[in-house]
Amino acid sequence: MQRIAVVPGSFDPVTLGHLDVISRAAGLYDELHVLVVHNPSKVALLPIAERVSLLEQSIRDAGIGGKVVVASWSVGLLVDYATDVGASVLVKGIRSQVDVAYETPMAIVNRHLAGVETVFMLPDPAHAHVSSSLVRQVSSLGGDVSPYVPGAVARFLQRS
Ligand code: PNS
Repeated sequence: MQRIAVVPGSFDPVTLGHLDVISRAAGLYDELHVLVVHNPSKVALLPIAERVSLLEQSIRDAGIGGKVVVASWSVGLLVDYATDVGASVLVKGIRSQVDVAYETPMAIVNRHLAGVETVFMLPDPAHAHVSSSLVRQVSSLGGDVSPYVPGAVARFLQRS
């Protein structure tokens, strides 16, 4: 049986912490879907299509192997996408107790809704302080975000 997992998130923009989780999850599953999901509770920086494109470039540039699909999802439940592609697992990066508190109810609801399990992965400590919201703030104030994001994202933010 194929082991298929989804790594969902806003990816606004993808960070080195995300890429670490994606790379390690790609090694654990036969097929990995990196899914850009619209999060209505956040003010977006980048359009969804741009986030998908930056994820594709970053995954390619990092030489992440295996079957990795980048897609987006804006209508309906996340577990509907997972069920459609035959995925039984969601992979989430967990940096702190704050992330545990945020993710736990969603993990329980997603399992109740569709029997989809959530696997929490600890990011490399080098990236534990990195978040997309921090990157958005530093970038909007003219700071250098290149230590926190893949090269493709740093170049894109410098140009815009
Ligand atoms: O990167 P983020 O913003 O922390 O990602 C959060 C996200 C998009 C994964 C989360 O908001 C989510 O799972 N949204 C899907 C909506 C859904 O299915 N909700 C019902 C069950 S929790």
